[in-house]
Amino acid sequence: MRKVFVAGNWKMNLDSAGSRALANGLCQKLADRDLSGTIDMAVCPPFVYLPIVAEALQSGPIALGAQDVYFEPDGAFTGEISVNMLRDVGCRYVIVGHSERRHVLGETDEQINRKLRAVLAGGLKPILCIGELLGEREDGRTEAVIERHLRKGLADVAPAEMERVTVAYEPVWAIGTGRTASPEQAQEAHRFARGILQEMFGPATAQRIRIQYGGSVKPANAAELIRQPDVDGALVGGASLKVNDFWGILDAAAQAG
Ligand code: PGA
Repeated sequence: MRKVFVAGNWKMNLDSAGSRALANGLCQKLADRDLSGTIDMAVCPPFVYLPIVAEALQSGPIALGAQDVYFEPDGAFTGEISVNMLRDVGCRYVIVGHSERRHVLGETDEQINRKLRAVLAGGLKPILCIGELLGEREDGRTEAVIERHLRKGLADVAPAEMERVTVAYEPVWAIGTGRTASPEQAQEAHRFARGILQEMFGPATAQRIRIQYGGSVKPANAAELIRQPDVDGALVGGASLKVNDFWGILDAAAQAG
């Protein structure tokens, strides 16, 4: 049976007390019912709360992730955070290329690729987000966007390094809108993405790469999305901010995986 991977992206939400309470609440649930044999789990708080959440998670089954990183290792880059700093505070995962970074903050495929390669070089695990805008889907360009995000985002990555890469397909029109891709739409996009990964890295590697779905995942729709053969987990925004909602998704994933 495949082991699916569910990560929570807290975005720019919560405060220190709320971050600690959310992490503690999830740990409590897992102490009652350990899902770690069935699924991999991570949460990605804002940078400033990483140490607080790391302390709450301790050595439990939920891994710590960051929402972004800068590609340079150190130096005069005011306001930026390096891979070494993230590793130093206990991060194992780093989201790169989230649609909000691409479309609100103006990140390019080239910058995203540099970040992804820096994460790999630093020994951490990148989660590369890809996905089309509504207009791109309506114009029939979904596959072209997926292909471009994968080919540019994963340029100069060796097949062996792909063991540490997760891809998250997040159609932008489904993020934070309450409008989820149907399981069929998700499966179609994931299957296409896996085909590109196969061209890039070969069939064995492509088969092992986990492709998460993201975009308005909730307890009520998580299972049927994750039951799709090429959907290997979820990247969850809004519903990862409440213990019961995120737990509902983890529980559904554990059963559907
Ligand atoms: P959402 O966000 O679950 O709130 O739609 C998903 C994401 O942006 O990762």
